[in-house]
Amino acid sequence: MSEKYLITSALPYVNNQLHIGHLIGCLLPSDVYARFCRARGRDVLYIGGSDEHGTTSEIGAARENMPVEEYVEKYRAKHLDAVRDFKLSFDLYGRTHTAQHEKLIHELFERLDSLGMIEEKSSMQPYSTGEKKFLADRYVIGTCPHCGYDRAYGNECESCGASLDPAELINPHSAIDPSSPVEMRETKHLYFKLSKMQDKLRAWINSRVGWPKTAIKIANKWLDEGLRDNPITRDLKWGIPVNKPGYEDKVFYVWFDAPWGYVSISQIATPDWASWWKNPDCHYTQFMAKDNVSFHSVFFPAQELAMDDNWKTVDVLKGQNFLNFNGAKISKSTGNGIFLDTALEIAPSDCWRYALLASAPETDDTDFTMTRFAEIVNKDLNGLLGNFVSRVCKLSNKNFGDTVPAGGAMDEDLAHRINEKLAELTGCLDACEFRKSIIALRDIYGIANEYMTAREPWALVKNGDTAGAAAVLNECFQLIDLFARVSAPIIPDAAEKIQNIFTGAHDLSWPTMYEHRIANGEKFTVPENLFTRIELEPTKE
Ligand code: 2FM
Ligand code: ZN
Repeated sequence: MSEKYLITSALPYVNNQLHIGHLIGCLLPSDVYARFCRARGRDVLYIGGSDEHGTTSEIGAARENMPVEEYVEKYRAKHLDAVRDFKLSFDLYGRTHTAQHEKLIHELFERLDSLGMIEEKSSMQPYSTGEKKFLADRYVIGTCPHCGYDRAYGNECESCGASLDPAELINPHSAIDPSSPVEMRETKHLYFKLSKMQDKLRAWINSRVGWPKTAIKIANKWLDEGLRDNPITRDLKWGIPVNKPGYEDKVFYVWFDAPWGYVSISQIATPDWASWWKNPDCHYTQFMAKDNVSFHSVFFPAQELAMDDNWKTVDVLKGQNFLNFNGAKISKSTGNGIFLDTALEIAPSDCWRYALLASAPETDDTDFTMTRFAEIVNKDLNGLLGNFVSRVCKLSNKNFGDTVPAGGAMDEDLAHRINEKLAELTGCLDACEFRKSIIALRDIYGIANEYMTAREPWALVKNGDTAGAAAVLNECFQLIDLFARVSAPIIPDAAEKIQNIFTGAHDLSWPTMYEHRIANGEKFTVPENLFTRIELEPTKE
């Protein structure tokens, strides 16, 4: 039986168009890893989707003067287009506003409550007298008591990453009507007794391996400060209704329901969902940006462990740093960044996939520019990969027709060099180290180019050594076949085009060693150019 791999990508809020930061933060690395695992014969369940509840949707809908459901549909449709256009191979790109999700959250809440992990508490919360409502989460903005940032939200400060109680904000005011007076009023909420999980969670974190330093640091900071009980209900209308008498006018906190979306979406994706989610031998990797790390390394696993019901917790949590654009934060409001609908007007998805992975913010926040994008695409994809494929096919076709010329034994020196890099690439993809993966992949393209340059098949033809030229070109075709296999998780469209050069059926399974799979005399077609150079207009640089 093949090994089970569960892979999840953070569920983006549907309050905006997705941008290249979302792509490199979670969507793309998770897709590459899922494709790589499948190519190795692993049994993969790859889940993503829309996080549809919470104040982001309510506030966005109010700003666009639309019912929330309609607003959510509008942005979900855009996200689904991006999933399709960037070839993200989710088994299901689901959503959290479903009956299945509500049923699951209700069952989980009942279990936590029955285990004594829920407590009712009254607290003073900001109330907008003009709007006549409590200001939950992003409805209230004020100054962060930890870092002094003056646009902190009621639940979190995006500047220092602190998780906040709205009552802690200095100078709170309404995000919708800043002129409305805000006073503190008493309201009751249900709290998850997170403090009880301190020791269990510490032991669990200590048993994790392969997490990036940033993620471990965030989780340990929470534990070192001591876990505090956490309110999981809100005075809002949009969300999962609370299944407890006395809470009819409240909903669950979005961060209580969203991570469980991975489970409810899996339940919709396959009746076999429990063979991943209730299987201790399954390998679970989560992908997200660093602002989501505390929720996935503390809140979600603490709930899973508290359930004591054999829930699969994350093995490897990949929390990426932030990708900036032209030296500044990517933001819809300032217009800085590249949004996924416009990205494809600039270049095909493979170019974005490769160039963003080459720039993945794995160890630090990283700056991305169009100049960098063009350099990577032009040098690596157009130069090393595209030109090699094109030159081999054209030269061979000109001198030997439309069949692969006869070759002989594998070039041992070439095979040795390729196999070294292949092992490196395999190790990097297995460890989800994407920048290093791109370096190893580029080296494979580079070795093939060096081989052809050194052997000069065009000169052999000219000097009448037809058999020698045929042997070199045959080796080059074997390398092209290898390119398709090792490139497929990263640039799936180009890999398919390369695969289609040959008329024989050659799968895109992950190779363990360089091998000769293309038969002497197999028919091939000369492909269109795989890539075109990116020429930047001065204004776009
Ligand atoms: O930051 C965000 O966009 C959140 N919606 C991520 C949620 S991830 C998971 F918990 F669903
Ligand atoms: Zn702060």
